[in-house]
Amino acid sequence: SIMREISGIVKMEQQLADKLGIQRAIIVSGNADEAPWVKNELGRATAQWMKSSLHGENIIGVTGGTTMSTVAKMLTPTKPDQEWLFVPARGGIGEDVKNQANTICSQMAENTDSKHRVLYAPDEVSKEMYESMIKDPNFTEVLHLIKSACMVLHGIGDAITMAERRKTSSENVEKLIAANAVGEAFGYYFNETGEIVHKIQTVGLQLADLTAIQHVLAVAGGGSKAKAIAAYMKRAPKSTILITDEGAANQLLKG
Ligand code: G3H
Repeated sequence: SIMREISGIVKMEQQLADKLGIQRAIIVSGNADEAPWVKNELGRATAQWMKSSLHGENIIGVTGGTTMSTVAKMLTPTKPDQEWLFVPARGGIGEDVKNQANTICSQMAENTDSKHRVLYAPDEVSKEMYESMIKDPNFTEVLHLIKSACMVLHGIGDAITMAERRKTSSENVEKLIAANAVGEAFGYYFNETGEIVHKIQTVGLQLADLTAIQHVLAVAGGGSKAKAIAAYMKRAPKSTILITDEGAANQLLKG
């Protein structure tokens, strides 16, 4: 019956959250690697969670990627008591404009009738660039907003897939392979034990900032991301809520 199916999923969600040592896991049907509609369901579940857990005025930090872009697509106007401000948690990431945090924030704002800010910065910055950027009051204001977010939405990627998508030099891809990098989130690359093996010099949200943020939503699905999710969750704040699919959850519970 549908009820048994539902209670089966609830049990699986509990097991997964326990196994990963995080607050909660939400599992949608299917495997995002195999069917494109599954990513929409990840987006829908994330949008629902946002709607039901936020009240009043909130700053929401958002990273990039195709999953975040799907969350934007599935968002609808906020309830009367909700006033949201979307801020990119990081700069552009040297990938397609549609996958960049700035673009996704503007779509989220449009679909929810909310506001957003733009971070005029590339994802990777040199020390010199950073020092000139912080002289710009608009830039420092957005950085300040990011740090005061009460919710962060972020994706998790397979390390090598992400490195290649960001057109990382073949030398650096080799380094990631040699270091057994399996997962990526926020520009940090992790090995299976959750050690940081590489980090892109980024502006915006850092891993250490997450502990101060009330709602951290990690959204990632597909069996191919299971290792990446497991690795990142070894470093994630315990308050993390993972929104994933059966494809990834089955692998994670087996492994
Ligand atoms: O940092 C992780 C990536 O942004 C995930 O990208 O959602 O396109 O797989 P994706």
